[in-house]
Amino acid sequence: MDDFDAFKLAGKSAAFLAVLELTRRFAACDATVLIQGETGTGKELVARAIHYQGERRTYPFIPVNCGALPDTLVENELFGHARGAFTDAREARGGLIAEAQGGTLFLDEVEALTPKVQVTLLRFLQDFEYRPVGGAPVRNANVRIIAASNANLHALQRDQHFRQDLLFRLNVLTIDLPPLRERQNDVVLLAEVFLKRLAEQYRKPPKRLHDSAQTRLTHYGWPGNVRELENLMHREFLMSDGEVVYLRSLPAPPACNAGEIAEAPMTAYRFQDAKASAIARFERDYICELLSRTHGNISQAARISGKERSRLGKLVKKYGLERMAYARDAEADTRVRGP
Ligand SMILES: Nc1ncnc2c1ncn2[C@@H]1O[C@H](COP(=O)(O)OP(=O)(O)OP(=O)(O)O)[C@@H](O)[C@H]1O
Ligand SMILES: [Mg+2]
Repeated sequence: MDDFDAFKLAGKSAAFLAVLELTRRFAACDATVLIQGETGTGKELVARAIHYQGERRTYPFIPVNCGALPDTLVENELFGHARGAFTDAREARGGLIAEAQGGTLFLDEVEALTPKVQVTLLRFLQDFEYRPVGGAPVRNANVRIIAASNANLHALQRDQHFRQDLLFRLNVLTIDLPPLRERQNDVVLLAEVFLKRLAEQYRKPPKRLHDSAQTRLTHYGWPGNVRELENLMHREFLMSDGEVVYLRSLPAPPACNAGEIAEAPMTAYRFQDAKASAIARFERDYICELLSRTHGNISQAARISGKERSRLGKLVKKYGLERMAYARDAEADTRVRGP
């Protein structure tokens, strides 16, 4: 592998392993790939993995930000121009397609293509021929296309925002990257991978996650997906003095009923999983409410709930609620203890 490190793509959830398997298969062929997923799920990383594991690995991987291709300049950006094509064109200049020759053209954020640019791209994808601005001879591109989208292109196409013919050209092989909240098994592993990398990057001794941090990580909803987790770990790594990371900057466990525990999708929703998730949600909300009413006094909470004190303590720890600001005036030894 060239400048792509396979270890960079970390994860062990079934959904992620399925993505890895597709990545490996798609790297072995040359067909167009469409990668869809929410922001920060790893679309560009997967695109690079496909490129750098495939036969084109020694040629360039060129990202194109489709949202930044203006109608008036798109040909110039993609196809380049001949000398004298316009007043300022003193020299001929190759465009992004020429730069990617032999390698991969990564069309990022295709959902943001304007209608005019969609047409330009469609024409190019029909025969991979293009003509630099200013009348130079037609050229043949030898590039692989990988496209990425934050939005569901089929839905955009149904609403007439995306051309069906362009969608057909892009959607030969597809990878749907699941959001992080549906890959709970990956969260702690990714956090640890990032901590390890940060220690190396900053040449500092390794740091580890506190037990309560692990629970909170898996219960948080991750709207910004892996990028949000990566940024959080970076912040926490720099802010923590000792060798333990507590996640002080992760939004505190919510007030009761905020429903922050990740919802699994309704499809592929096994009864056992749904039940476990409902129980977890109930337990956390209940403990939340109980601690709030008793100002964090575990003995009182145990009496009210009819549960053993030690069992209650375990639940508090399980849901990472020790650090909540419940404990105010209860006696020190009966308080919920933080780390
Ligand atoms: N499985 C993973 N293992 C390790 N790092 C990951 C993984 N997935 C994503 N990342 C990291 O998370 C960050 C976001 O990934 P990436 O830029 O590929 O996401 P994206 O889907 O392209 O996001 P956007 O839609 O916002 O452009 C990057 O720093 C990337 O290295
Ligand atoms: Mg991206």
